[in-house]
Amino acid sequence: MTTTAPTCAIPAPESSVPDAELIARATAAREELGDRLVILGHHYQKHEVVRFADITGDSFLLARRGAEATHADLVLFLGVYFMAEAADILSRDHQRVVLPDLGAGCHLAECADIFTVNDAWQQITDAFPDRTIIPLTYMNSGADLKAFVGRNNGAVCTSGNAERAFRWAREQGDMVFFFPDEHLGRNTACRLGMDPAHPVVWDPRQADLGGIGPDALSAAEIVLWKGFCNVHTGFTVPQIHEAREQHPDVTVIVHPECPRPVVEAADEDGSTEYIIRRVGEMPAGATVAIGTDWNLVDRLRLQHPDKTVFCLKEDLCPCVTMNRITLSKLTWALENLAAGDVVNVVSVDDAMAADARLALDRMLAL
Ligand code: 13P
Ligand code: SF4
Repeated sequence: MTTTAPTCAIPAPESSVPDAELIARATAAREELGDRLVILGHHYQKHEVVRFADITGDSFLLARRGAEATHADLVLFLGVYFMAEAADILSRDHQRVVLPDLGAGCHLAECADIFTVNDAWQQITDAFPDRTIIPLTYMNSGADLKAFVGRNNGAVCTSGNAERAFRWAREQGDMVFFFPDEHLGRNTACRLGMDPAHPVVWDPRQADLGGIGPDALSAAEIVLWKGFCNVHTGFTVPQIHEAREQHPDVTVIVHPECPRPVVEAADEDGSTEYIIRRVGEMPAGATVAIGTDWNLVDRLRLQHPDKTVFCLKEDLCPCVTMNRITLSKLTWALENLAAGDVVNVVSVDDAMAADARLALDRMLAL
């Protein structure tokens, strides 16, 4: 466990207080906190809470902007756990990072843990002692994995800079070990001109060499962890065909956490920030189908009434962990902070944070 004990891990139960009252109370507490507090909101958050964000963005932008807001000694994160950890790693000594619900995890980040990654690393480095293997971790990973990568000359990447990070890693060594998202890894390898079948997939449930076999592993330049996002793997090729049948002029844009066949069937793929920018650039009257979290797509739909914006899978459940941050939990956190009780602090221990910062700084320097 990388956090200090929170004052209260489980916020007040979802309240029956009407939204209008919660909004008024949250607004009053927020005003009382003034410049001492900065609220960072991820694009996948519910509308009811993201309206309180001082800054909205993707995971990396938010981590950096939190650290830049040096006037604030409190950083309230509307997002998931790994994002709050990254904010703490990049924060100044006087800042504390608060997450209104400490149970807001990330399915993808939890596909890899330090024990199984360490074991895989031992097996690979023992099997190929003469090769230089560069570990890369996606931002969606625990602080302990970022620290592991930092100690082993690797870097962090996000969906927005994965191509640059992979290029960098291939220049540093002769094998890249990427975790935890198989799909982002394969899509990035394809952007570098590789065949989708080239990267091998390390399955942590297989005892020997991740089930790859020594010859295939020896031939591989890129090794991908068998992990996935349960939201983005919900998008399929038939959904794209259906969107094209119903809207012949549609542009389909998906996130690179989607499986390779979905990315190939789409018109474009890119990070959260890319998707937002592309929808903004499209002319009035354009039709765009998007394969990413529903909250973001719905917000884009509301922000662009002159365009037809819809989610590739309209019955998609939004990311359930992102949705754990609700108006009542935000109100609970703000009222406690205003009363001087700093609840739900996310704090990475100093040694781990120092190693993890190396990996984040290498990403920044790319
Ligand atoms: P970003 O890196 O765009 O913030 O995405 C995070 C995420 O969880 C994507 O599913
Ligand atoms: Fe994690 Fe997927 Fe949710 Fe993003 S959308 S926070 S990767 S579970």
